[in-house]
Amino acid sequence: TVTTLPPGFSAPARVIAHRGASGSAPENTLSAFRLAHELGARWVEFDVRLTTDGRPVVFHDDHLDRTTDGGGPLAETPLSALGDLDAGQWFDPAFAGELVPTLEEVLDLLSDMGMGANIELKPHPGHERETAEISLSVARELWPPEAPPLLISSFSDSALAVARDVAPQWPRGLVVGALADDWRDRAAQVAAWSIHCDAELLNARGVAEVLDAGYRVMVYTVNDPGRAVNLWDWGVDSIITDRPEALLSLAGS
Ligand code: G3P
Ligand code: CA
Repeated sequence: TVTTLPPGFSAPARVIAHRGASGSAPENTLSAFRLAHELGARWVEFDVRLTTDGRPVVFHDDHLDRTTDGGGPLAETPLSALGDLDAGQWFDPAFAGELVPTLEEVLDLLSDMGMGANIELKPHPGHERETAEISLSVARELWPPEAPPLLISSFSDSALAVARDVAPQWPRGLVVGALADDWRDRAAQVAAWSIHCDAELLNARGVAEVLDAGYRVMVYTVNDPGRAVNLWDWGVDSIITDRPEALLSLAGS
């Protein structure tokens, strides 16, 4: 089954800023989302994980080491400890003092700026249900009903199945690497609206296969303008990029 979207749904933009404008600001921070807006992007993608005390925060890796001055698994860290960590210095000293934001802070900022959002749920293994339930409960409370629906994506079928049950009003995106033989079954199980493919592993035939089956095609992560034009020519709907400024003038809408 392909999800039917609510009346008035405006499809995601052709260009979606990956973890915010993460080519020019530290990924998944409020600065990266503000910069995406300043650069003209209308949609952002970001990652959501739970802290050990079950608070949804916007963060990509399972460990804190790469993008903060802390360390260890995020899933073993309480929210209160994240307030002591610097999430900007690693990228550039100009961003020193940047914090790991909560989902609540990010959704508040995005709705204030009138931006659309693709929330990627990244559950710690075994915590798929609570990651989806808690994150979507926060999102339901905060996201204005008149704003474009959130696009909820995940590599995790279990998290998407929970999303389908607890927030059926929001479309779901199945994130895959290559298009494996089982992608149709997986997409049908979670009533997906879109398939999010690794651009490096996709060809024109794959795009046609997904479109023919009735799904939208999103691709990640494309920073080269020539490659982006090629993908749009194949029929790709939206491109997730670290460099929205490089793609926006080519997007056509
Ligand atoms: O949501 C698409 C893409 O962001 C998935 O890969 O590792 O960047 O979260 P990753
Ligand atoms: Ca992501």
